[in-house]
Amino acid sequence: MMSDSPTPLDDLLRQRETHLGKALSIAHGKPLHITHGHMQYLYEADGTRYLDLVNNVCHVGHSNPRVVEAGQRQMALLNTNTRYVYDGLTEYLGRLAATLPENLSVGFLVNSGSEANELAVRIARAHTGAHDMVVVEGAYHGHTGMLIDLSPYKFRGAGGKGEPEPWVHVVPIPDIYRGGERDYAAEMGEIVANTASIAGFLVESMLSCAGQIPLPPGYLSSAFEHVRAAGGLCIVDEVQVGFGRIGTHMWAFEEHGVVPDIVVMGKPMGNGHPMAAVFTTPEIAASFEEMEFFSTFGGNPVSCAIGMAVLDAIEEDGLMQRATELGARFVEGLRELQEQYPVIGDVRGRGLFLGVELVRDRKTQEPATGEAASIVNDMRERNVLLSTDGPHHNVIKIKPPMVLSKGDVDMTLHLLNESLNQSL
Ligand SMILES: Cc1ncc(COP(=O)(O)O)c(C=O)c1O
Repeated sequence: MMSDSPTPLDDLLRQRETHLGKALSIAHGKPLHITHGHMQYLYEADGTRYLDLVNNVCHVGHSNPRVVEAGQRQMALLNTNTRYVYDGLTEYLGRLAATLPENLSVGFLVNSGSEANELAVRIARAHTGAHDMVVVEGAYHGHTGMLIDLSPYKFRGAGGKGEPEPWVHVVPIPDIYRGGERDYAAEMGEIVANTASIAGFLVESMLSCAGQIPLPPGYLSSAFEHVRAAGGLCIVDEVQVGFGRIGTHMWAFEEHGVVPDIVVMGKPMGNGHPMAAVFTTPEIAASFEEMEFFSTFGGNPVSCAIGMAVLDAIEEDGLMQRATELGARFVEGLRELQEQYPVIGDVRGRGLFLGVELVRDRKTQEPATGEAASIVNDMRERNVLLSTDGPHHNVIKIKPPMVLSKGDVDMTLHLLNESLNQSL
């Protein structure tokens, strides 16, 4: 039985040594022993409060009471699987479909972003009869065997084999800050044109691991044209950026005026309860009917109740509007800091999905990787949790629970100013 009083940190670390593989690292450098969370805050056993600016899973707030209540109520009533008929499943799928372009009406519910991306690729292969895939440099799409092969972030990183599999085609990161204003879509078009046949293009609607990069205007629409001309499907991975995080739209692809063939969603969907989904058109779904599809837990009544409560919270608590307003406030403050501190090379993002790229020299753009780590560590000492990303790990990422307040933004900017002043 689990005891109510927290185990001392040293004991927990020893137990982790014994029972967890060394492939798993601990977040935020020095271990944090968190005992509870509430909305945008995490608390240590001694009551120390941290502002969480990195957890885009707890989208509507850690232990959001509305979500907790919905899960508890449904758990006490019924939990079964999608081979039975129950209101919650179809209501939830209908509600999600209503947020998407009209033709993307068929949903598959699973338990993680990895499962969803894997399923999306299988569906694309079934529909096109082709096998090859196109992905963007620096991308991470999941931890299964197939997705490691489709994640340059992994296969080029520590422990990876370095080069892509022959069926994986990697296109450049459309990064205007580092790569300049090039025609990135034309470059991807050339790569697609030189490939015999492709099943699909798997792309995040805004790049996360590649460095918190909004796609340049026009990129997705021309890239989709190239992919479709080659017979492939366009799959957008909204696992990090979806569910209204960008503020202006529910889904980040909408900003680009495109309609994907397949949309993949995950992380914030269950606010920490494991949920993910793939949505596609009836025609594409029909190509995937030959083999039975079933996920034991995907779409169970408890998950549907939780997913519904997350959608209620986004809507009724006006969280997209809040993301727009607070994102703008953050960007304005960060740009003021950029004027003061040459180490801030770029400030970018949409809504509450932001990146602050640190460089040693604005001309050479030498990545300030150590400096980014120092700031993140220093901010943790000031009780604000941040982390870094991007191919050079020099981009400080901000993607907090969407229940953040103006006061949290102002306090963060104030502390960042102090940190930049004192720790670099
Ligand atoms: C963009 C993106 N896609 C997919 C995944 C995989 O999701 P999961 O960890 O839920 O399997 C992640 C996880 O970090 C992700 O960032």
